[in-house]
Amino acid sequence: MIYLDNAATSYPKPPEVTRAVCGVMEKIGGNPGRAGHTGSLAGGRILERCRELAAQYAGISAPERVIFCLNCTDALNMAIRGTLHAGDEVLVSHAEHNAVLRPLMGYHDAGKITLRMLPPEKNGLLSPEAVRAAITPRTALFVLCHASNVTGMIQPAREIAGACHEQGVPLLLDAAQTAGTEDIASIHADMIAMPGHKGLLGPMGTGLLCLGDGMLPRPLREGGTGSASESLRQPDMLPDRLESGTANLPGIAGLAQGIKFVLRHRVAIAEYEQVLRTRMRNGLKNISGVVLYDGPDPVKHVGVVSFNIRGMDSGQAADALNKQKIAVRAGLHCAPSIHAWLGTSGAVRASLGPFNTEKEIDAFLMAVQQISREA
Ligand code: ALA
Repeated sequence: MIYLDNAATSYPKPPEVTRAVCGVMEKIGGNPGRAGHTGSLAGGRILERCRELAAQYAGISAPERVIFCLNCTDALNMAIRGTLHAGDEVLVSHAEHNAVLRPLMGYHDAGKITLRMLPPEKNGLLSPEAVRAAITPRTALFVLCHASNVTGMIQPAREIAGACHEQGVPLLLDAAQTAGTEDIASIHADMIAMPGHKGLLGPMGTGLLCLGDGMLPRPLREGGTGSASESLRQPDMLPDRLESGTANLPGIAGLAQGIKFVLRHRVAIAEYEQVLRTRMRNGLKNISGVVLYDGPDPVKHVGVVSFNIRGMDSGQAADALNKQKIAVRAGLHCAPSIHAWLGTSGAVRASLGPFNTEKEIDAFLMAVQQISREA
């Protein structure tokens, strides 16, 4: 199988990720923070190590400001539901995923908040000036999809963070497609939501919410934390305030290894994925009948290329590729608003990871050419 669905979840993982997951399953008997015996303490050290590595990658001042979540959607929900108040106004980009739009639209429909979506410039990028101009005294949060999971275009997040901060508005960065390849720390976002299982190369069922100084969301879930158990009230201290119940220790052990790999190789991974992306994009551009959906040349993209084959539904094209043992994702990619902006009702998406090869890209291009000829 040629795996080109890394934007949904990365595969394969570095071997040390798998070893760490299995190591916990085989060797650690104990629930972190719930006892003083050797296994429980060993588990606790794994959680702490993962927090330290994530804080280093995201540029967070203290490891306890890194919160373990189920996935990026969970982290985004925690940030959105935990910080907004009735009457707030929230600004978002046109490229948001349903993980952001659905919780916000629910509040908007209930009359609790006002939601405004900012259109991009002609080149698909949101301008910091437009952000500056859109902010009002009621704006309580700006949510930015760092890179679209459909076009792959990377938004000028650092400049947008600056525009928000000038007016005291916190920026929630959805780094679903950029965590692992981009320099997230340099953006200085106030809250950063990251999946553990995509660019950070960890297992599914892991995600992170990284909190900048001063950010203290209300908990989504309350319960046992292993701390302050005499109190019937949720503790205020981080991370316990936001982490109730038993942690996904095997997943987090794997995630720690994934982040270590990223800290060592991030720049090389990003450069390599750009080489593969250019090869794929240029190859697709030369196939007659292929329509590409990406931004103009100087705009930076992550390793995602979306396209359609004329005369063919995106699902049919993905099925035809699957028959040739090539895995891609078709449809709306849970991001209907960017598809509306592109004017599509679905597309085929091929997304790259650090373990793809040029040979695989060439085999994919040959398959698309053949399918397009037969369409
Ligand atoms: N949000 C993920 C994707 O883009 C699952 O496929």
